[in-house]
Amino acid sequence: MLELKNVFVTYDPNTIFMSNALVDISLMIKKNESVGIVGRIGSGKSTLIQLFNGLIKPDNGAVLLDNDDINSKQIDIRKVRKKVGIVFQYPEEQFFAETVFAEVAFGPKNMGMRETELKDAVFSALKDMGFSSEKIAQRSPFSLSGGEKRRVAIASIIAMNPDILVLDEPMAGMDFNGKEKLSKYIKNEIKNGRTVVFVTHNMEELLEIADRVIALDEGKKVFDGRVRDFFSDEKLIEKIGIDIPSVVRMRNKLKKYYSDIPFCRTPLEISSYLKKRYRH
Ligand SMILES: Nc1ncnc2c1ncn2[C@@H]1O[C@H](COP(=O)(O)OP(=O)(O)O)[C@@H](O)[C@H]1O
Ligand SMILES: [Mg+2]
Repeated sequence: MLELKNVFVTYDPNTIFMSNALVDISLMIKKNESVGIVGRIGSGKSTLIQLFNGLIKPDNGAVLLDNDDINSKQIDIRKVRKKVGIVFQYPEEQFFAETVFAEVAFGPKNMGMRETELKDAVFSALKDMGFSSEKIAQRSPFSLSGGEKRRVAIASIIAMNPDILVLDEPMAGMDFNGKEKLSKYIKNEIKNGRTVVFVTHNMEELLEIADRVIALDEGKKVFDGRVRDFFSDEKLIEKIGIDIPSVVRMRNKLKKYYSDIPFCRTPLEISSYLKKRYRH
C-alpha cells in the first residue's frame, strides 16, 4: 500500500519562479487498484507520481510504502524502486542502449538480477508488450517505430516486475494499434493483481481502464473516488478543464428521463439498457 500524508512540493522556493506544485495532498493507493490521475497541464500530475518512488522528495509531509517512510535514511531506495516502477512521459526519449535487449535489461540488472533470470525477464516483458518475435531484442531501439519504442520503454520497467506500475500518459502520441495493445496489457495486469496508476488526458481511456480517479487542480486534490461518481459531477469536470466523453454525456442526459439508468462506460451499455427497458 502506498500512502501520501499531507504532502507539499514547492519548486524554486523564495525566487520569482516559485511554484507550489503540490499543496497538502493526502491519498492512499491499495493493492490491485487501477487509478487514473487527471488534471490540466501544470496541475501537478507528474510531480505527484515522482513522489511515489522517491525521485522527488516532499518539502513537507510523508510518502509511505507499506507503512515505511520511503525518504527516511534507513530505507534502501533501490528496494522502493523495485516495488514502484515509473514509466515517464515520452520514455523513449531517454533510450541509450545499442540493442532492445540491453535497453530492457538495464533496470533489472541494476537491481541485481542474475544473468539467468535476466534473459527470461527481458523476453517475458517484451512478450507482454505485444512483441511476438524475439528477433526484436537484437535491433537498435532507435530503429523502431514510435509505438514500438514506447512499448519497449514500458517493457524496461515491467521487466523489474514492480508491484505498483505507474505510467505518465502512456498512450500519448501512440497510434490506434499501439494503444490497443497497451490498453489490453494494462487491463490484463490489473486482472492479474498488479496495481496500476496512470496519468491521462484521455477520458475514454479513463473510463475503460480505471476504477478510481484522482483529479488535481493547481496542485490541490479536488476529487478522489469512483470513476462513475467523477463523471456525474459535470460542474467539477468543467472547472478542471476536462472533456466529458460523449457516452457519459448521453447517459447523463438520459438520466433526466430514465432515473434508473445505470452508469454506462460504452454505447453498447446504453443500448442494452434501453433494449431491456422497452422489452417491457
Ligand atoms: N523541475 C521543475 N522545476 C520548476 N518547476 C517545475 C518543475 N517541474 C514542474 N514544475 C512546475 O510545477 C507545476 C506542476 O508541474 P507538473 O507536475 O509537471 O504538472 P503536470 O504533469 O500536471 O503537467 C507547474 O507549474 C510546473 O511548471
Ligand atoms: Mg506531466
